[in-house]
Amino acid sequence: MKPVKVGLLGLGTVGTGVVRIVEGHQEDLSSQVGSPIVIEKIAVKNTEKDRSVTVESSKLTDDPWDVIRDPEIDVIVEVMGGIEQTKSYILEALDRGKHIVTANKDLMALHGAEIMAKAQEKQCDVFYEASVAGGIPIIRTLIEGFSSDRIMKIMGIVNGTTNFILTKMSQEGASYEDVLAEAQQLGYAEADPTSDVEGLDAARKMAILGTLGFRTNVELKDVSVKGISQVSKEDILYAKRLGYEMKLLGIADREDEQVSISVQPTMVRTSHPIAAVNGVYNAVYVYGEAVGETMFYGPGAGEMPTATSVVADLVAVIKNLKLGVNGLKAIVPYKAKKLKSDEQ
Ligand code: NDP
Ligand code: HSE
Repeated sequence: MKPVKVGLLGLGTVGTGVVRIVEGHQEDLSSQVGSPIVIEKIAVKNTEKDRSVTVESSKLTDDPWDVIRDPEIDVIVEVMGGIEQTKSYILEALDRGKHIVTANKDLMALHGAEIMAKAQEKQCDVFYEASVAGGIPIIRTLIEGFSSDRIMKIMGIVNGTTNFILTKMSQEGASYEDVLAEAQQLGYAEADPTSDVEGLDAARKMAILGTLGFRTNVELKDVSVKGISQVSKEDILYAKRLGYEMKLLGIADREDEQVSISVQPTMVRTSHPIAAVNGVYNAVYVYGEAVGETMFYGPGAGEMPTATSVVADLVAVIKNLKLGVNGLKAIVPYKAKKLKSDEQ
């Protein structure tokens, strides 16, 4: 069987997990898609760096264009991060008929509509399950699982780093700086952790969830954002004494065809299931008119949970490729609606 050739952009926390899963689960993956999956080329910044996975040095390049322009490559897996330059790689890959899997919420929250329009024009797939809530398949759930319903509210903890910090401050009285350093060391934090602690990462994820869940076009500027950098250990301990846990909550509501989305530190009653979501775990509560209350829980960041979602997307893309179809088209926002923030 002819192998499916994959180009990987990035071999950091997530890219390493992708290589481990593609190699470690190869037999099962290839039996699902009907061909071996080969990671043909990998773009990194520094080709000389010591890596925690073994890859043939001939596969490494420090020029992402080498990967994008390789005619042998069918699918690009982008786990490199970055916005404008990365967008140009993705758009050119689509122009060349390559399918895309990405974990990049920054890119999708800012340029998702343009990328999906190009994907549609070129009849290519762009899947981005790992961009929100790491190992929880929440994007598939919103698009496929709730296609029959009208979602009214999406609420949750969608940033692992800040939940890890708040949990350790609450349970161990640890200092903000020490726990942030630990989250960085564990590979949970963004390259610039300001986007985690100031709520921007969560805001980007809520913009993606709002767009998909409400089938509208939520822009980042429509999300009101406050992070946890101003939350003190005393705030957390005081809340705890009153019977609350401090959580960075994203809340997206739809009311009378208007949407409002915010991210902010919130005191959650200890009796509420969200208060018990600790460490790097995320949880997303979805309320649908027909289904009622649902909640999804799992690891929100880190090498293997995130790579699980990336490789699941890769499998889905390859299955589509083999069938000659594209899937999850509803990822394209079909209609822009008025937002509450338009009135301010
Ligand atoms: P890392 O910083 O660990 O890895 C980034 C990788 O990309 C590195 O291998 C780096 O090379 C390479 N790279 C960066 N810039 C360039 C460039 N200009 N040219 C070539 N290679 C480049 O990031 P993560 O793995 O943590 O995150 C990757 C993406 O996944 C980001 O978009 C992030 O937001 C997203 N994500 C991350 C999660 C996590 O838990 N970490 C969870 C969900 C999504 P080198 O190794 O040589 O430095
Ligand atoms: N920095 C992000 C987080 C990675 O902590 O949630 C997962 O998107």
